[in-house]
Amino acid sequence: MEKYYISTAIAYTSSKPHIGNTYEIVLADAIARYKRQKGFDVYFQTGTDEHGEKIQQKAEAKGVSPQEYVDELSTEIKRIWDVMNTSYDKFVRTTDKKHEEVVQRIFEKLYNQGDIYKGTYEGWYCTPCESFWTETQLEDGKCPDCGGEVKKSKEESYFFKLSKYQDRLIKYIEDHPEFIKPESRKNEMINNFLKPGLQDLCVSRSSFDWGVPVTFDKKHVVYVWIDALSNYITNIGYDVDNSSEEFNKWWPADLHLVGKDIIRFHTIYWPIILMALDLPLPKQVFGHPWLLFNNDKMSKSKGNVMYADDLVDIFGVDAIRYYVLHEIPYANDGTITYDLIIERINGDLANVLGNLVNRTIAMVNKYFEGTVTNKNTSTEFDSDLIDLINKLDEKVEKRMNALEVGAALDSIFELLRRSNKYIDETTPWTLAKEEDKKDQLETVLYNLLESIRVAAINLESFLPDTSAKIFDQLQIDNKTNGFVNDNEYHVGTPVPLFQRIDKDKLLEEINNRQ
Ligand code: MSP
Repeated sequence: MEKYYISTAIAYTSSKPHIGNTYEIVLADAIARYKRQKGFDVYFQTGTDEHGEKIQQKAEAKGVSPQEYVDELSTEIKRIWDVMNTSYDKFVRTTDKKHEEVVQRIFEKLYNQGDIYKGTYEGWYCTPCESFWTETQLEDGKCPDCGGEVKKSKEESYFFKLSKYQDRLIKYIEDHPEFIKPESRKNEMINNFLKPGLQDLCVSRSSFDWGVPVTFDKKHVVYVWIDALSNYITNIGYDVDNSSEEFNKWWPADLHLVGKDIIRFHTIYWPIILMALDLPLPKQVFGHPWLLFNNDKMSKSKGNVMYADDLVDIFGVDAIRYYVLHEIPYANDGTITYDLIIERINGDLANVLGNLVNRTIAMVNKYFEGTVTNKNTSTEFDSDLIDLINKLDEKVEKRMNALEVGAALDSIFELLRRSNKYIDETTPWTLAKEEDKKDQLETVLYNLLESIRVAAINLESFLPDTSAKIFDQLQIDNKTNGFVNDNEYHVGTPVPLFQRIDKDKLLEEINNRQ
């Protein structure tokens, strides 16, 4: 079996993640489930990033120790990932002792081989992003990434000589067009950061202590990004001169999935650290776009934050999975509002998917007491439908391989829509009135069940609970894809998949709650 290692960014344990941060784990989950379905041996890693100045400040403000603070948040983040029904194989934490020890040995190795040296840092620091900036990089005196306040800092620090690896990295990126996706992010990295020349990176902090201590200089802690990025290798058994079999099996990762704001850390700093450790680079880094609230950045201060668990309480897990996976296109930001969620549920999930399954199962029960076979009496409308059924697998695969997850979902819904249209074209209720059209009616229903079965197989990675409910109603565990000519279906009773929502009523209820 071919292996597939996929990771998400590890979430900061500074505050509860909102639906935007939660999007990434759902996206990774859809890809991981899809690869498993395609027969890959998948390893899917996620977790929490628990050190740094911001977390120390938050813990102090709350009057608890940083460890207590991160324990609570890491548990909460894991709970939310579980609420979203994500199938990660390992949930890692950067306060894990084994991880900390390997980070210390990585830092020592880089120091011993002369990649890291001691100096003094003077510049600007953005605590929420845990990022260093020069005067000229600031935009209107603010952090160019998050637009927040930066503070002047001067402290004794260790530095990594990034410039030493710069040309090698540029060549690598140019020789490996698949390495950074989407294309626009790659150009941004080359033109904005690599071509102008890399500054040495400050890789330790000495003005606070919530971090991994530098073994040979205890007043320093390892810069949070070096600590965090290393999670991708420390948790699969990497060690500086004694890596495990497990490490050799999984590394290099096939896909690091990260948000567009941290693509720089993953396509410049991380590859350079790996080059310095003499390790191969991950095969691909995908910088996904963001989910915005009504086209605006979600933030507590703006009062526009939506949380995944609240949304799941109102709408159900698969509706929210569908919304985020479908609504965030490949390269541009997506948006979320209650209005839009309700529109999608009513339009796509209830009208197109729910209705099709419900109507079809009900008709099979009504006209054939639940059992139909293919009577092969064709209508003029069959070939178009059967053709779409047969092409679905290939279309979804092509789009998933390009990480166009929203488009993959569109292909499935194209078949579902076509199937509803097929019902309108063939009008089973008219066929049912004529005794000599019985075989034709049975064939029509058979074709519809085939379409539903193939759509449900393809939907499994995105909406696992819904697919399971469809398989239950079809009473099958046959996962053959493509149109099957001689199957017999014995369906169960119809169970509604998605209820239509009364928009005004629900919006009012939501407003009253807030
Ligand atoms: N701890 C770092 C990652 C270290 S990885 C070695 C971090 N954490 S985070 O909690 O701030 O963000 C986690 C992920 O959520 C990041 O990939 C980030 O880009 C993503 N998102 C944050 N806000 C988002 C949206 N509004 N929409 C989509 N993704 C978003 O960064």
